[in-house]
Amino acid sequence: MSSPREPAPGTGRGAPALVAQGICRSFGGREVLRALNLTIGRGEFVAILGRSGCGKSTLLRILADLDPEAVGKVEVPARVAVAFQDARLLPWKRVAANVGLGVRDPDVEARVARALADVGMTDRHRAWPSTLSGGETARVALARALVREPELLLLDEPFGSLDALTRLRMQELLATLCARYRPTVLMVTHDVDEALLLADRVVVMVDGVLEHEVTMGAAASRTRSGDRFGVLREQLLGMLGVHGH
Ligand SMILES: Nc1ncnc2c1ncn2[C@@H]1O[C@H](COP(=O)(O)OP(=O)(O)OP(=O)(O)O)[C@@H](O)[C@H]1O
Ligand SMILES: [Mg+2]
Repeated sequence: MSSPREPAPGTGRGAPALVAQGICRSFGGREVLRALNLTIGRGEFVAILGRSGCGKSTLLRILADLDPEAVGKVEVPARVAVAFQDARLLPWKRVAANVGLGVRDPDVEARVARALADVGMTDRHRAWPSTLSGGETARVALARALVREPELLLLDEPFGSLDALTRLRMQELLATLCARYRPTVLMVTHDVDEALLLADRVVVMVDGVLEHEVTMGAAASRTRSGDRFGVLREQLLGMLGVHGH
């Protein structure tokens, strides 16, 4: 899949969309985030890779202002939407009600309808969450984030539980929607290919800080068949401590 996105706007141009400085978080005396810094440009798509348990979800919760005990400075836009690792749909509400939850706007129905159309779920708007497939659930979770018209979209392994084919479809859908709405995106993933295909920049979390980063550059380098793709893939796997494949 080649991404329709333009090259990264770069963090140097204009005011950044997200600034996190000196983020620290410990649990029971164990330091998870150690003075972590991250700046993301407006409209930039950044992916975070890192070993399980290294603190990626912890960082996203802090950026979403869901962790009052974290230390450090966070500047984010007014409209932030989060899609968590598990979709967290309310089982007693139908799909449309889940998507519109918490949206205060007299036009909420029209916005929900548009978000469901964006993710190809118009015909399931009255379905109960328990009747959805994994891929459909991921689509609804994405619609619930998009309906907020976020300036910053925080995605925590949004496609982590999906089979390979559905995952590819969802990656294409996300790339299309990002090209259309141009939000700033920070996405956690375990999938190096997914990070390379979707992101303008990939950062690697090690020991509580973002230790490495790889910038994708032109969209052409994001095709799996490109030489650069393979080189960056090896680099990132090395940074993650995975060698010899
Ligand atoms: N509320 C909490 N109380 C105690 N420990 C916590 C809490 N939240 C997270 N942790 C610990 O902090 C560390 C980082 O957790 P986090 O969920 O951020 O990891 P992660 O990088 O998202 O991992 P994964 O890739 O498996 O999702 C883990 O060791 C976890 O056990
Ligand atoms: Mg996590």
